[in-house]
Order: sequence, then C-alpha cells, then structure tokens
Amino acid sequence: MKVLVVGGGGREHALCWAIGASPLLSKLWCAPGNAGIAELAECVAIGAEDIPALVAFAQEQSVDLVVCGPEAPLTLGLADACAAAGLKCFGPSQAAARLEGSKAFTREVADAAGAPGARWQRFTDPAAAKAYVREQGAPIVVKADGLAAGKGVVVAATVEEAEAAIADIMESRIHGESGATVLIEECLVGQEVSFFALCDGNTAIPLGAAQDHKRVGDGDTGSNTGGMGAYSPPPVFTDALRDEVMARIVQPVLAEMAKRGAPFRGVLFVGLMITADGPRLIEFNVRFGDPECQALMVRLRSDLLPALLAACDGELASFDLRWEKLHSLVVVMAAKGYPGSYAKGTEIRGIERAAQVPGVQVFHAGTARREDGALVATGGRVLGVTATGTTLAEAQAAAYAAVDAIDWPEGFCRRDIGWRAL
Ligand code: AMP
Ligand code: GLY
Repeated sequence: MKVLVVGGGGREHALCWAIGASPLLSKLWCAPGNAGIAELAECVAIGAEDIPALVAFAQEQSVDLVVCGPEAPLTLGLADACAAAGLKCFGPSQAAARLEGSKAFTREVADAAGAPGARWQRFTDPAAAKAYVREQGAPIVVKADGLAAGKGVVVAATVEEAEAAIADIMESRIHGESGATVLIEECLVGQEVSFFALCDGNTAIPLGAAQDHKRVGDGDTGSNTGGMGAYSPPPVFTDALRDEVMARIVQPVLAEMAKRGAPFRGVLFVGLMITADGPRLIEFNVRFGDPECQALMVRLRSDLLPALLAACDGELASFDLRWEKLHSLVVVMAAKGYPGSYAKGTEIRGIERAAQVPGVQVFHAGTARREDGALVATGGRVLGVTATGTTLAEAQAAAYAAVDAIDWPEGFCRRDIGWRAL
C-alpha cells in the first residue's frame, strides 16, 4: 500500500513510525514532514493546508490512503477533496470536522446526544455575556467560538477577569472573527484526560487515553502551550470510566452526527474532565493529540494501518486493537521562549545517543537538516522524547535519561512530566 501522511510535527512522526512498521506498506510519503520523518518516509514539499496540491500529488502517485495529522486541512475539506478525487482519506469530512472548528456546534451536538458536559450559554453581544458572568459568578470559563490556535479559552478565577476576557475576545477581537461569538461555561473541576476513539461513521472503538501537560512550567505553572508532555495510560482513567465515556459520550455523539448527515470518520479526541460527579466533556478535536499520539503509538501492538483502513471503510465493528502492557511517557523539548517568541536554526546534537537509551524513541516536531547535515530546530516544540517502561516511573526515568543525552543549549523541557500519576 502507498500512504501519504499530511503534517510535519511530532504526531505525524509517530504516525509515520507506526505506519512504517506495517507489512502492508510499500511506500510512505509525508507532506511536508520534518528531519526525523525523512528517515522513515519521503518528504514532499507541499504544505499541510495546500489541499489541491496534496490531492494532485496523491492522484499522481496512486496513493492508497491519505492520513491527516492536524485539524486545519480537515476543517478546510481535505477529506472531501480526496473523496471527490476517488482517494481514500483517514480523517473526517469538513462537515464532521466542525466538532473541532466550532465550540458552540460541539456543545449543541453533545446536548442533543445527551452527553454530559458543562452548563453553557452562547453570546454575540458582549454586554449580555458580561451580565451573564456577573449573574453566574466565578470561577467561570470564557471561550471564543472558533479556532484560536488553542488560545481562545480563559478559565477566569474572578468576575473581573471574565469580563476582561469577554472584552478582549469580543470587542478587541484578539482572535479575529473567532471571537464574534463567545461561550460562557461552567468551570469543571477535576483531572483532565485526553481520550481517543477510532470512528468509522457508525462504530467507535477505544484508542486509549493519555494525560497532557498544557502549561509551560513545572508544577503546571506559566502559559498554556500545545502540550509539553504526556503519559499513557493515566491511572485516573479506569476501564469503567472508559466504558462510561464510550457509552454516554462517544456512541451517542457518533449517532447524532450520522443523523445530521455528517458521519464522523477518523480519530475523535475527547477532552474530558474527570469530576467528582463523573466524566464531563470539555471539547472534541477531530484528530490525534500532540504529544498524546506519541504516547499511544509506542504502546500499540496491533498494526495501525489496517485499523485506519477499517475506519475509512466502515468496518470497525469487527475490529480489535491490541496494546502492549507498557507505560509510556513523552517529554517535549521546546525552544527557549516558547510559547512566546524563540530563536530558530539552533543546532541540536546527541539525538543518536538519546535514541540508544532502551525503550526510547525520539520523535521530531520542528526540525530540519542544514546544508552541512546538522540537525537544527525550526519550531517552538522541537522534539518529543518518548519512552516506554513496565512502570510509569521506569518510562519517566528512560525519557529523562534520553533528554539528558541531548545537547541543545537553546532548548528546555519540563522536568516533572507524569507527576500526577507518580
Ligand atoms: P479547549 O481549548 O477547549 O481545550 O480548552 C483549553 C483548556 O481550558 C482545557 O484544556 C481546560 O483545561 C480548560 N477548560 C476548557 N473548558 C473548561 C471548563 N468548562 N471547565 C474547566 N476548564 C475548562
Ligand atoms: N495536546 C493537545 C492537543 O493536541 O490539542
């Protein structure tokens, strides 16, 4: 089989690594890829959001399966364009990708499906939003409705903070048109878990869970990021909770989407708060998490490729995934300054030494090769140092031993990934 992976981050490196291990694979491309992915796949210089060029390339090369990593191409209609061209694509249609593109749409669908979430209200008038916040009191959550690069959510500890967030989002439009509508939500309290379900439009099967570390600093302090590390499985997410989430959130939402004529095929990322009253939906994403994907892929024993095909073909009902009885942990190494501004082009040494630590895979997120062959950082999140172990403590020790073998003075990482479970 010939496969094209779309994207160029750590998630896509992990997907290429898992797909690359499949005996069904004959050729793997990645657009645009990165320096780590280039060791497993042929990287193609097409941007992940250049839908016409991706489709043309896939047609020229008679690609059997397009696998989309990030959400942006999906919200732009990559899966629809593939379908129109007779290409198979793993990932939801544009209509189904609204589950990530619009938070109000997600809450409507979840409510219609009876899935447990947060109390919420939608506003297009800032004065009305502020009045509602004053009536509800704090803590309270303010969200821009549309995509805002993960920065559209303010968990406000006070009413004043919430009012300021409404002014920033709706009046100053700091996230542009995404802020035309805001959602004000009840503040859920508990541990957050990222749960993943593989969906074929009608049937879903669990793909495992992980816990992300969104804040930049140790002890969950500092700014929000795309994710500074993850581990899997999270002990807080028991099998009973998984079954409850499948029965009360995933299956009913899948049925609701099918009823609306937008069946969901792909990975449904269920952002959950495990509250004292049980699991509550925070949000959906329509793709794997990054770095959660890295933590899941190193635990997967089954061949990923047939599972992705079964999801595309509506054949998950008879499908079963097997997992290693291992714990995994990812430490993200980022450029100093991230998630603010940071230097690009700094040299990274010692990856080979890090990769020799038993149980370690170093996934690249933002790297390139300089003309002289040196590895350089090109993004904010740069490496996902991923390890497995028979215990989480063992996985953590291996991941940090590998991190310490990497010589990159301009990089940093959190030193406490996994702390909630250790
Ligand atoms: P989102 O962009 O929807 O993933 O939200 C970003 C982060 O805000 C989440 O990971 C949570 O930590 C937090 N968050 C979002 N919604 C709520 C809520 N209703 N209650 C508490 N925290 C929330
Ligand atoms: N790590 C969170 C995300 O991928 O959205």
